[in-house]
Amino acid sequence: MIAKPDAVTRGLVGEILRRLEQKGLKLVAGELRTIDEKTAERHYAEHVDKSFYRDLVAFITRAPSFVMVVEGPEDTWRIVRILMGPTNPAEAPPGTMRGDFGTVIAENLVHGSDGPDSAKREIDIFFPGLA
Ligand code: RTP
Ligand code: MG
Repeated sequence: MIAKPDAVTRGLVGEILRRLEQKGLKLVAGELRTIDEKTAERHYAEHVDKSFYRDLVAFITRAPSFVMVVEGPEDTWRIVRILMGPTNPAEAPPGTMRGDFGTVIAENLVHGSDGPDSAKREIDIFFPGLA
């Protein structure tokens, strides 16, 4: 999971970690890190042809993110995404991270892997050797 630059700049990392831990998930790796362009492009490779791709890379690299790995029972990635809420904060329900703290899709605070394969792929990108 990644607390994106908007979340770090707004001082929401503690709140995000609190929600993950309160849910019963365990932080197994975490670091404040400015994601470089190459890493961002690798991470968001699936979106390379989308209209918002360059803006997305510029956004995720503009300031430090808090990159982390959280562990839980099976399908932890799904639990994390439920806590995050839908991609567009304007449509995300209260009680979710995006619903409680965001208003626009370009600044949606958090990233979560969208399946077991992408979780492994992304852990390899940000914490090689961990998984
Ligand atoms: P994420 O990958 O960041 O966890 O978000 P997601 O799975 O909910 O959404 P995804 O479709 O993977 O999109 C990745 C990120 O791209 C930005 N986005 N902008 N302007 C737009 O229409 C648009 N659509 C997506 C968002 O920051 C989204 O989180
Ligand atoms: Mg995604």
